[in-house]
Amino acid sequence: MKFNQSNIKKAKKYLDGDYCIGVPTETVYGLAANAYSNIAVKKIFLLKKRPKTNPLIVHYSNISDLKRDCLINDNFIKLYKKFSPGPITYILKLKKDSKISNVVTNKEKNLAVRFPKHKIFKKLLNQLNYPLAAPSANISTRLSAVQAADVKEEFGSKIKYILDGGKCNIGLESTIINLIKKPSILRLGGLEVAKIEKVLGKKLNLNINPKSKIGPGQSQLHYSPGIPLKTNVKKPKKNEAFILIKKRKVNLDNYFYLSKTNNLSEAAKNLYACLRRVKNKGFKSIAVEKIPKTGLGKTINDRLNRASKY
Ligand code: TXA
Ligand code: MG
Repeated sequence: MKFNQSNIKKAKKYLDGDYCIGVPTETVYGLAANAYSNIAVKKIFLLKKRPKTNPLIVHYSNISDLKRDCLINDNFIKLYKKFSPGPITYILKLKKDSKISNVVTNKEKNLAVRFPKHKIFKKLLNQLNYPLAAPSANISTRLSAVQAADVKEEFGSKIKYILDGGKCNIGLESTIINLIKKPSILRLGGLEVAKIEKVLGKKLNLNINPKSKIGPGQSQLHYSPGIPLKTNVKKPKKNEAFILIKKRKVNLDNYFYLSKTNNLSEAAKNLYACLRRVKNKGFKSIAVEKIPKTGLGKTINDRLNRASKY
């Protein structure tokens, strides 16, 4: 997608005016607003129908801007050097004099932060003098948006502008790591946990379905296409959509392929778009074949399992 200065200007104008807009990131589209403005971030919660207890991720363009709001530590620096900008979100302690709206954090003393890699989003962030709070651009519990048209489908004319950055390259949300005490993974995502463990030199606790929820986004029902979905299916029922990881010779109207050759990155990139397409075609239920539980397959399985709680 070509970079277009006038679109970025438009986006900035709306954000400066405390409006929410759709923004492209390499993971999924975000619904963005000025993280320093109570008025602006309240709109995010209203538009998404998001419980106000569910805190937002804040996006920064560089580490020196981050340092105005958060305390950093050694683990953060190691991971930042290796993986940012990119699909990883860090939970850090907020500084006492941070300007982050307490609507963003629901008055908690920590903050989820991310450095996005998408070129257009980075250009936009560079022109603002505030960071952007941006949860995924979908109504709460529903499918994430991976292209501008999906954001439009979710919010219609309720949002003023969508900055079009083409299709998301990764297609799954960022991996979330809590770095406040002993590092632990709060959400599987677009960066494989094994790669993070390699940099930190230790195994990490997975805290992705905790009994007391740290992030309410860890709740069971999430990423739902709004119709029943079953995983690990060998044979679909009649009239059911069947999603397969690898292209077969069969070309039936109810067969949908996530990748040509069992490629998990390609499947990740196609997952949400495929689920959205199936739903929009009017199918009443979805069956998904077994997806390997290796690499990004772990994240794909996590999302499908949550989507199946419908
Ligand atoms: O890839 C992504 O992370 C995308 C793009 C737009 O950056 N954003 C995204 O945001 O997925 P959202 O709001 O859909 O998911 C953020 C998750 C939620 O489950 C929320 O509960 C959790 O992060 N979260 C936010 N702040 C937190 C905090 N301080 N502690 C623990 N979890 C937090
Ligand atoms: Mg989300």
